[in-house]
Amino acid sequence: MLNLVLFGPPGAGKGTQSKKLIEKYDLIHLSTGDLLRGEIAQGTELGLEAKKLMDDGKLVPDAVVIGMISNKLDANKDAKGFIFDGFPRTVAQAEALDQLLESKESAISGMIALEVGDDELERRLLERGKESGRPDDANPEVIRKRIKEYNDKTAPVAGFYQQQHKFTSINGVGSVNEIFAEIVDVNESYKK
Ligand code: AP5
Ligand code: MG
Repeated sequence: MLNLVLFGPPGAGKGTQSKKLIEKYDLIHLSTGDLLRGEIAQGTELGLEAKKLMDDGKLVPDAVVIGMISNKLDANKDAKGFIFDGFPRTVAQAEALDQLLESKESAISGMIALEVGDDELERRLLERGKESGRPDDANPEVIRKRIKEYNDKTAPVAGFYQQQHKFTSINGVGSVNEIFAEIVDVNESYKK
């Protein structure tokens, strides 16, 4: 199985690159952000709770996203592998993911981090916010809060995979295709 974690701050290009990766490698895309927006769209209780935090640029509780990922792993038992996008976002989530995969006799192949500076992130997200309808893209203050939340709680997850020698960081600025080519190179090394 190929289980890849795409990592990086809000607006780094995780979703954009995930779409290309699932086509090339026939993997299942698991984006906790997309799953949460799905819950909001359906008006579930979980969605209502998550919406308050998401609109404010804060992370939702670990147990919520771990539960969603666990369900998706169970629902896709025959998958060739998964791309985790926006998950794990805390060290507790990374530990839980290792346990979930271990119980299925699988493991993370590697993490690829997309490096993009704060000014470019803000520019991309404000631009997307003009059309996306995502409330968390509409306001520079919320975007900066998301970046701070990333630096405080999510950045340490890189160290978790570094310790396991499963971490590679690449430049996330450039054309989508250039970046994809670099990701594919790293991914080939994880497949060996
Ligand atoms: P989530 O949906 O994961 O959002 P995010 O991490 O803030 O990141 P984005 O989806 O905004 O960015 P991306 O890296 O996918 O970039 P994209 O490809 O879209 O999470 C939303 C919220 O849900 C969180 O704030 C939190 O509340 C909650 N949540 C989710 N997961 C959670 C978890 N595990 N734990 C707790 N809470 C969780 O690209 C962005 C834009 O840039 C696009 O317009 C794109 O077209 C453009 N772009 C992409 N690549 C390039 C390029 N190379 N050059 C120029 N523009 C580019
Ligand atoms: Mg995304």
